[in-house]
Formats: sequence, structure tokens, C-alpha cells
Amino acid sequence: MSVRIAPSILSADFAALGAAVAAAEAGGADLIHVDVMDGHFVPNLTIGPPVVAALHRVTGLPLDVHLMITDPDRYIDRFADAGAAAISVHVETTPHLHRTLGHVRSRGVRAGVVLNPATAVSTLSEVAGEVDFVLVMSVDPGFGGQTLIPGSVAKIARVRRLLDEAGNRAPVEVDGGVDRGNAARLVEAGAEILVAGAAVFGAPDVPAAVRGLREAACAPVAAAVGEG
Ligand code: DX5
Ligand code: ZN
Repeated sequence: MSVRIAPSILSADFAALGAAVAAAEAGGADLIHVDVMDGHFVPNLTIGPPVVAALHRVTGLPLDVHLMITDPDRYIDRFADAGAAAISVHVETTPHLHRTLGHVRSRGVRAGVVLNPATAVSTLSEVAGEVDFVLVMSVDPGFGGQTLIPGSVAKIARVRRLLDEAGNRAPVEVDGGVDRGNAARLVEAGAEILVAGAAVFGAPDVPAAVRGLREAACAPVAAAVGEG
């Protein structure tokens, strides 16, 4: 199973985002995770389409835009125009999830669904065949630097099973409190995309932190083939 590392710029220096993204890229990051918060769905305000457009101009890495906003449908086109490669919406924010996913995909953008820690995996069952990825929140969204909720590991496995049953190989992404200490367990449970904010941008050496996370994440895979 391949593992992709998606550093979250939420924990980077907002006055030097270009340098932060370049450092993550130098460490071999696969995606850049962009946390969009509206001060309504979550109790924090961050960034919008102009910042995504600015990042798009300075990096070749795909921008993975995580919308923590009420009524995400209103903003999908603007984030697509800004250069998002992937857009994920919270199942808690949209009553017409099927239509929303179709809208994202119609723009040539990968469409993801996000589940809060208290949201049941079964809320995905009717769209399991239509998602390009599923993002499992392993903390309550709104802030970086929180501790991973332990039940998230089993939840990742349940999401993986649901997708497999729908015949969908779409990856499971995990977001919140991911670090070198838990990366292997998350991958073992079925996560293929690891988002990490504090563990990357809170570290003194960002490229080394990205490499360290990948090394930790790949440990069980290496052990299974007798290399570790
Ligand atoms: C939380 C955000 C996360 C956050 C993760 O609401 O969705 O992407 O940046 O940060 P860490 O890795 O510090 O928990
Ligand atoms: Zn996020």
C-alpha cells in the first residue's frame, strides 16, 4: 500500500507560506493540505481562495483543500478556480452530498468526504461508490496540535471496509494528531494519506520531519516484506 504525506500548512508561519511549502516539498511531501475554516462550522478562521491561488503559483504539489465551512457548495467553484487538486467537504455541512460531490468532480477536482469524530461511518454508505477519497478526522476540527482520538484507528478500518464493499479503491486520509508515534498504526488500519501539521511545521527541520513521518508510516510495510 502506498503512503502519501500531506503536510498541513495550518501550523506553518502564515507570513512565510511559500517557504513552508518549499521546505515540505524538499522533504518529499506528496500533497499540501490546506485547512479552510469559517468561524461558523468550526470555531476558527483561516484562509480562502486567494491564498490557495497564491500557493498554486509557487508549488507543483497538488493542493488538498479541506473545507471546514458551512454551505460548502457556495465556494467549490472558487476553490476549483484557485487551483485545488482535491476538495473535501464535511458530511455534517451539506444536505445534498451526492450533488456536492458531483459538482466537485465536474470541475475536474478530486472529491472527498470528511467525517467528524462523532459522525458514523454509515453516513457514507449511499455515496461510497462516488467518492475519490474519504477523510477521517482524528480530532475535532478547528485547531492544529491536538491529540489523536484513539478510536480513530478502528474507524479508519471501518471506512476502508465500506469502500472495499462498494468496490471503490479510493484512499482513506486521516487528519489530526498524526505523528511518528502513531503513523504506522494508522497505515496498518488502512490510511493511505497522512495529514500532519504540528508534527511537520512544529519541528525544527521541516524536510527531516516529512521524511521521518514517511519512514515511520512505512515501517509495518517494510516489516511485512522482511526489510525492517
Ligand atoms: C484540524 C485540521 C488539521 C490540522 C492538523 O482542524 O483539519 O488539518 O491542521 O494539525 P495537527 O497535525 O497538528 O493535528
Ligand atoms: Zn485538515
